[in-house]
Amino acid sequence: MQKLSRDEVVEAIKENLWPHYAFQKEIREKGPKVLVKGEGALLWDIEGKEYIDGHSILWVVNVGHGRKEIVDAMAEQANKIAYASLFGGYSNEPAGILAQKLAKITPGDLWVSFLVSGGSEAVEVAIKIARQYQTLKGFPQRFKVIARKESYHGATLGALSCTGLRVYRTSFEPLLPGFVHVPPPYCYRCEYNLEYPSCNLQCVKAIEEAILWEGPKTVAAVIAEPIMSAAGALVPPPEYFPRLRQICDQYGVLLIIDEVLNGFGRTGKFFAIERYGVIPDIMTMAKAMSGGYAPIGAAISRKEISDAFQDYMMMHGITFGGHPVACVAALKNIEILERENLPERAEKMGEELKKLLEPLKKHRMVGDIRGIGLHFAIEYVMDKGTKARIPSDQRVAARVEELCWSKGLYLCRASVDKTYIAPPLIVTYEQLQRIVEILDQSIAEVEREIFA
Ligand SMILES: Cc1ncc(COP(=O)(O)O)c(C=O)c1O
Repeated sequence: MQKLSRDEVVEAIKENLWPHYAFQKEIREKGPKVLVKGEGALLWDIEGKEYIDGHSILWVVNVGHGRKEIVDAMAEQANKIAYASLFGGYSNEPAGILAQKLAKITPGDLWVSFLVSGGSEAVEVAIKIARQYQTLKGFPQRFKVIARKESYHGATLGALSCTGLRVYRTSFEPLLPGFVHVPPPYCYRCEYNLEYPSCNLQCVKAIEEAILWEGPKTVAAVIAEPIMSAAGALVPPPEYFPRLRQICDQYGVLLIIDEVLNGFGRTGKFFAIERYGVIPDIMTMAKAMSGGYAPIGAAISRKEISDAFQDYMMMHGITFGGHPVACVAALKNIEILERENLPERAEKMGEELKKLLEPLKKHRMVGDIRGIGLHFAIEYVMDKGTKARIPSDQRVAARVEELCWSKGLYLCRASVDKTYIAPPLIVTYEQLQRIVEILDQSIAEVEREIFA
């Protein structure tokens, strides 16, 4: 890499790099936050300042930074061959070994993996598999996909059409036809003003109602993330997914489970859907799949689904799907997750984190704290009694995040009124204490300004 001074790097980022989900002007004025090094749950920026990684860099680095064995395996593979694609009947060794491993670690008879390079691509593939499968089975009119409001399924146009958060959609509308959104299992803000369990899971009934309203013979699939992340770590009631499975079976609709963010130990299980004893028809994964070392994702299908394609080509392919170096990184990463029992550790440390976060409810603007495993969110409100939302122009989560950064805690805000907490699964108890201490101070400061 060309050697540039610190100032030259900062200038290059300010001038030439398009940020993702961030204001270019703000970065030009305040300067970018540039991370250069990581070790375990710690990070260092270009100024040499240390941070705790409270977010596993976008829920990706579950095994922690500085995993030399992943680096070594990738280098060894890169030394063998630059690249070998999965197009037109060609393949590579690591892709095959990884696909076999995924069949072993995913629930039930999920069996054949389509390898891609990220989460949005995995969702695109899942939608295409579902639609083509329905056509192959003699139902070409089954093209609709039912998703939930408040969900995030990716940024590409198909995945974005599934996404149920207005803020991501409005600039790109009209999105694809045939994507229908129903209320999520958001107990804190139930759209029906009901309470669990007396609600009798109206939000899952809403999916059946949507199928009936659209016409069962027009619906290809339902897509759902087990623990809804962008909405702020929504843990659904235990009956939600078993009932959803029954509904899908009753109407011949495929169930796509999006594990892009939940997968690879984050929620205390290898895959979050394991909590509900449900086997999806198609499951997507990405983010923590290689521990962050390489871009990779997958959509894995049940055998019955891939079998339907035996005489038909799946009309999809992307150049870098199944890159051998990324597959080796994923295989090593899975080996580490298994060897160090990291999903189990996430479950235990999550219980500790929950206890540590509980006292933050003392803050006037903290309306709810929820989550499972090492996957938590704090939701801010104007008024705890009415749950009135904080106006978006207050940019409350952004202000909390900014203060946390100044105090040595990395969090990546992706919402107006929610702070997400998701440290690497190897985080220590002392680091969890420090994360909560910094959050406590930062929330107090923002709250003083807001209610001044
Ligand atoms: C549940 C879910 N699905 C899909 C995606 C899209 O993944 P990517 O950003 O890798 O395209 C995300 C990203 O946050 C996600 O959380």
